[in-house]
Amino acid sequence: PDCYVVIGNPIAHSKSPTIHARFATETAQDIDYQHLLAPLGGFEVAVQTFIKQGGKGANVTVPFKLLAYALATSLTARAQAAGAVNTLAFNNGEILGDNTDGVGLVADIVSNANVTIAGKRILLLGAGGAARGALLPLLQAKPFQLVLANRTVSKAQELAQQFAQKFPDEQHIVACGFEDIHDQFDLIINATSASLQAEVPPIAHTAFGAQTFAYDMMYGQQSTVFMQFASAHGASVRDGLGMLVEQAAESFFLWRAVRPQTSGVYAALRAQLS
Ligand code: ATR
Repeated sequence: PDCYVVIGNPIAHSKSPTIHARFATETAQDIDYQHLLAPLGGFEVAVQTFIKQGGKGANVTVPFKLLAYALATSLTARAQAAGAVNTLAFNNGEILGDNTDGVGLVADIVSNANVTIAGKRILLLGAGGAARGALLPLLQAKPFQLVLANRTVSKAQELAQQFAQKFPDEQHIVACGFEDIHDQFDLIINATSASLQAEVPPIAHTAFGAQTFAYDMMYGQQSTVFMQFASAHGASVRDGLGMLVEQAAESFFLWRAVRPQTSGVYAALRAQLS
């Protein structure tokens, strides 16, 4: 079989091998997909060793996504926009770097939750790696407006500016602080890591309403505090489990040119969480 790995540190908790094994079975693809723990100073060596052993591709997770970006010999537009790589494909000495996180997010919102992005007002919370990865795919879904709000306003401004320079054809992003948010949005995406500390980005509750769809990139057994806050103010909510499955499907498609069904894996992972 062709061999793939997910590389990170720590890595044992990663659900990617389970997800890809199921995709492979369902699409009759003969692949082997394992965890690969790389030492903190040893990402490049781990990748090069895996390539020498005949590895065909890898998913990359914390803390190596920026190193994977640097290691790639060519990058997709969405990896360039993200400034980070979560998927590597190895082919005749080429190391192709891609980023499937943002398309995974958009696929989960549009195809699984049946929420339209085109023509809508979107609020993206955060200006770290997760927010950056989501920007290009979100803009390509043609929202009416995209507002980027972050605790550290300068980081949101910088990201919006860099993005406008790199992608002059895309719509402009409005950058601001949490205190500037008052009006209701159609879609609010939490790309901060605040949920890990059980905190909610301090935006006015008036941003949420019955027409609002609120998405947290985090997931867990229970609703995140962001989802609880959003529901309490009338919004529909969804966590990031579907994004996890969809980004994996997009990586699988890059490697195998076959698009797996995602609903079965999603249901199985959801059942494991509860
Ligand atoms: P990631 O790769 O998950 O995006 P990151 O690059 O460290 O991680 O970015 C974390 C993001 O969450 C940032 O936007 C951060 O805001 P700052 O830029 O102001 O640091 C945001 N964040 C983290 N904890 C937060 C909290 N408790 N409330 C609001 N925002 C928070």
